[in-house]
Amino acid sequence: MKDNDTAVGNADMITKPLHTLDHIRKSFNDSTDRTGRAQMGQFLTPATIARFMSSMCETFPQEVRILDPGAGAGVLFAALVDALISRKNRPLSIEVVAYETDSAILPFLKETVKRCEALCTSNGISFRGIVRHENFVSDAIAETSDSLFAVPGTRYTHIILNPPYKKINTQTAMSKRLYAAGLEVANLYAAFVWLSTRLLEPGGGIVAITPRSFCNGPYFKKFRVAFLGMVNLTRIHVFVSRKKAFGDDDVLQENIIYHAVRGLRKAKSVVISTSDGLDFEKGHTQSVPYSRVVHPNDPDMFIRLGLDAADLGLAERMKCFTSSLSKLGLGVSTGRVVEFRAREHLREPREQGTVPLIYPYHFEYGFINWPIESGKKPGAIVSSSETADLLIEAGFYVLTKRFSSKEQQRRVMAAIYDPARIDAGLVGFENHLNYFHKQGKGLPADLAKGLALYLNSTLADQYFRLFSGHTQVNATDLRKMPYPTYQQLLRLGGHVKEAMPDQEIIDAIVEKECESRG
Ligand SMILES: C[S@@+](CC[C@H](N)C(=O)[O-])C[C@H]1O[C@@H](n2cnc3c(N)ncnc32)[C@H](O)[C@@H]1O
Repeated sequence: MKDNDTAVGNADMITKPLHTLDHIRKSFNDSTDRTGRAQMGQFLTPATIARFMSSMCETFPQEVRILDPGAGAGVLFAALVDALISRKNRPLSIEVVAYETDSAILPFLKETVKRCEALCTSNGISFRGIVRHENFVSDAIAETSDSLFAVPGTRYTHIILNPPYKKINTQTAMSKRLYAAGLEVANLYAAFVWLSTRLLEPGGGIVAITPRSFCNGPYFKKFRVAFLGMVNLTRIHVFVSRKKAFGDDDVLQENIIYHAVRGLRKAKSVVISTSDGLDFEKGHTQSVPYSRVVHPNDPDMFIRLGLDAADLGLAERMKCFTSSLSKLGLGVSTGRVVEFRAREHLREPREQGTVPLIYPYHFEYGFINWPIESGKKPGAIVSSSETADLLIEAGFYVLTKRFSSKEQQRRVMAAIYDPARIDAGLVGFENHLNYFHKQGKGLPADLAKGLALYLNSTLADQYFRLFSGHTQVNATDLRKMPYPTYQQLLRLGGHVKEAMPDQEIIDAIVEKECESRG
């Protein structure tokens, strides 16, 4: 199918609904304001992506039932209808159920349904389009819950969706309803995918475009376990450059597209493709064993996406680091001092009866620099029986920042807490930090230095990004990283003197350590 969106004749408007959908998207975007759209999670899919998503569908029954939850102007189901009727083996009938809560977009949606109807009729296919101006989440919970009051409804052969993206506030009625239905999710998009999957008939296929943040991290674990338990993941498409998937809508999340088939049998492999933005034609595709995407014994069921040639090379280079935190006898935990809970105990440095409280702003050249006079945050915490649980014995610790902005070059940033530089018997680590320790206490000095150098290497940072789609650096993610052996860490630590070396030198040291082993 050629992109011909600018020259659309009247006949085409009926027979080729997709040709007009980018116009609808544009006129809707022009007639509504961007902030309002962002608040509603209303990022409409460009027709090119919709077509690409439809091309992933694998099942072609005679009677097709399509669900598009959060349908917007209907581009996704229209693309799927178009793809199905363009096949040699056309279905006999197509039914589309489209959910949409926003009244402003309904006229556009109804228009798309009409066009699909015209298209099907002109091709001799019976068509029924149902627009539900209702909350998909409530309906889907009612239809799929195990309770006696469940209303069993239609099951679908195809589900195609670009759901709304919105953090779920735990205090809302929506969140309580989801929780009561056994759906613990951090973001609305995951609730949509989860509920949709429940509505698939066995053998039916779901294709979704969502942020990739669900692929790892603790907040989406329940979703991953439930989703991967219900389906057979067949395809994943990764956008290798950011912000391009939705063009004019400034979406910060990284998106992925995935296709899965409802059923318990697991495929041996997953087809993974990448493209730079919307340039699907020039993309890279490869088949990867399922066990490499979701490791068989991984209780967290991370979905690992690191896959193109450069990434595979990276994974290959990381093989020189064969150890793990548990083998090293080390642990990593999140800083215990949550500012707003400990507010009454926070003080200025050097006040009587206080100990250092370390924040990310104390990172300087790979070490902790404390106190900083101009620090905006308190910098110290009272040491008392009330704060005893928040403090730990002074020693060598490696700290990493939990949050980085997308603009920052590195995601993993590490610094050493050196007890010789800070005169204190106890210390508090603020909650925006993770700290590496040995059974809750400090590490040997050279080991800490080696660990910080390794974490600050480009190799470790890039590897981390491979399987982490979001900007947070969670302790769970850090536990999953491969690490150098004890001896390697000691050797690496020998290179850290008064300050962390420059990036190029760190990378050369780490590279050399790999070579000497190989
Ligand atoms: C990200 S947009 C995508 C729209 C369309 N699927 C597309 O790809 O262009 C998500 C849509 O879901 C709608 N929506 C948000 N919450 C909803 C809910 N609870 N039930 C049904 N639709 C909802 C929004 O109004 C918005 O149009």
